[in-house]
Amino acid sequence: MNEITITRPDDWHAHFRDELMLKETVPASARVFARSIAMPNLKPPVVNAKMALEYESRLKEATPKGNDFKALVTLYLTNTTTTQDIIEAKEAGILAAKLYPSGATTNSSAGVNDISKMTPVFEAMAAQGMLLLIHGEVTNSDIDIFDREKTFIERYLSKIIEEVPSLKIVLEHITTKDAAEFVMNGPDNLAATVTPQHLLLNRNDLLVGGIKPHYYCLPILKRNIHQEALRKAVTSGSSKFFLGTDSAPHMKNDKESDCGCAGCYSAPVALELYAQVFDEMDALDKLEGFASHHGADFYGLERNKDTITLVRDPWSVPQELEIPGKGKIVPFWSGQQVSWRLK
Ligand code: DOR
Ligand code: ZN
Repeated sequence: MNEITITRPDDWHAHFRDELMLKETVPASARVFARSIAMPNLKPPVVNAKMALEYESRLKEATPKGNDFKALVTLYLTNTTTTQDIIEAKEAGILAAKLYPSGATTNSSAGVNDISKMTPVFEAMAAQGMLLLIHGEVTNSDIDIFDREKTFIERYLSKIIEEVPSLKIVLEHITTKDAAEFVMNGPDNLAATVTPQHLLLNRNDLLVGGIKPHYYCLPILKRNIHQEALRKAVTSGSSKFFLGTDSAPHMKNDKESDCGCAGCYSAPVALELYAQVFDEMDALDKLEGFASHHGADFYGLERNKDTITLVRDPWSVPQELEIPGKGKIVPFWSGQQVSWRLK
């Protein structure tokens, strides 16, 4: 197969950042996706409906004229989020709220310290039909970084599901066989997003032959057995797995640093890379479900009506991108070949 046409896809997990960065990130997603869930870990974080609506209008302003792309803004849960915040967010049309365990990742210091205290907020979300999006990693210093996702599932996710069984939950950017199995065997209202980097790479790619800062993201890349399990899960056809790039730009200097930031800026190349993975797995027929159907269905939204076409036509990802007024970004897969191109 040298050409594939699918329903226009959506990205259920993206970091657009703010201000000057939006001129790069919003068009990069809008070129291919119809909708993207916009993560709220800004500085300061998007903690209420008012901030979310203001962010939504900045995202809209950055959308290329004539493109009907829609960024779906989300709420950032903190220790002081109230049930009233949830009610107001729902009234404002916000579909989901994000749980960052405090200190788990970029701009998560305002996140939640004690998840067990969040039950009333989760109950309010369930009552409002709002989705809970989870960065599923514990942050305890005694838990090895490679075990943080698995431990989160055991200690917290199982409990949340037990205590608030009607809450719709997306375990974001899963990285382990354990997470894939947990989601696959879990209730219907539990799903997961998977990034291109966790399908394409494992921790050897990050660490063997020299450290690759542009492959550093959180949750961190795991062993190859986990990569294989994720590749199997997304190509299984299960509607519990859908596209979420976790596209997360950081300036080149901040990644190539003695304390490098976590995140891969994949928006300019993500769909093409997913196609490459599905092609390698001989499962191109499963790409449309993963990229364009399962997420919309889980969120209870209409599927997109238009289509996009990918052709087998190798190209090289640019080494760097210039962000006017800010500096350089190294996109994910920079300088490497991608076998599929957007027509
Ligand atoms: O690698 C990551 N980067 N993981 C996250 O969870 C956050 C993201 C970011 O905002 O940079
Ligand atoms: Zn993210």
